[in-house]
Amino acid sequence: MNMNHAPTRTLMSLGLAATVAAGMVGCRGERTDKPPRQFFPDMDDQEHFRPQSETEFFADGRSQRPSVAGTVAYGRAPIDHAAATEAGWAEEYNTQRARLLKEDQAAYFGTTDAPADDPAHYIREIPVEVTMDLIRLGQENFDIYCAICHGYEGDGKGTVGERYAVAPANFHDATKYVDPSVVTSRDGYIFNVARNGLYDAAGTMRMPGYGHALDEIEAWAVVAYIRTLQASRGVSIDSDIVPGAERNRLMEQKGTPVGDAGQSMTGEAIAEGGEQ
Ligand code: HEC
Repeated sequence: MNMNHAPTRTLMSLGLAATVAAGMVGCRGERTDKPPRQFFPDMDDQEHFRPQSETEFFADGRSQRPSVAGTVAYGRAPIDHAAATEAGWAEEYNTQRARLLKEDQAAYFGTTDAPADDPAHYIREIPVEVTMDLIRLGQENFDIYCAICHGYEGDGKGTVGERYAVAPANFHDATKYVDPSVVTSRDGYIFNVARNGLYDAAGTMRMPGYGHALDEIEAWAVVAYIRTLQASRGVSIDSDIVPGAERNRLMEQKGTPVGDAGQSMTGEAIAEGGEQ
């Protein structure tokens, strides 16, 4: 290898670094009346037309170009699937349109027209269909964004939560988060806290919002999962909501003899959805 170039190269990089550093010192935080330094002026000051102006450049004399043929505008009404010849693209279009317009107040804001100090301001029940997939999506997001403070079981005993300046809510507190005549129990309220966080009257943040990370569906999914965590507490092993196979597994864990051992499942099978 040719090692002779190494010192030259080092000197060159040092020189370059010094130039860059000097440049940055000159630019940072300084106010000046001189025009700004432009390292690539052709990118800052490009040739351009003003909107709605005339030009000789295009044959029709207009600087603005018409929409590409076949462009679909976001219209007043969703596209009727049955009428649309290609229902495939119509569905994606309708979803995008709904997300852009956010016309469905219940689904996108979790609120009603009732005044803000009325508990009925927040919708009582999740406005989207609650399926197993939605609950799983909720579990995933709850475990990522909420469990650190509220605990994986929603009891407020997350690792950060236990050291946080304010004690995080325990979702198993029946006086606050179960009875829908109490505003903090309403699905729409929990949805709003999840997305927008909590502030006290003086505007000090008590809990950060997660709207940047959870879209509306994910936030409803988290609400559904909080309800699932609540339902998992205080349920008798004989209750109908405990799947038979799961009941057997729990009995086995407890060391109680199981009547029909053939029905028992492995943890993995249960995680896969199993035979519920
Ligand atoms: C950084 C810690 C932290 C994280 C992360 C966090 N919370 Fe909270 N949360 C709190 C604290 C602290 C409180 C209690 C605030 C108070 O008492 O004023 C709270 C309260 C709540 C309440 C009760 C509000 C009320 O008025 O009683 C709900 C509902 C809630 N959080 C939902 C969530 C959801 C859903 C997530 C995840 C998307 C989440 N939180 C993530 C700290 C956190």
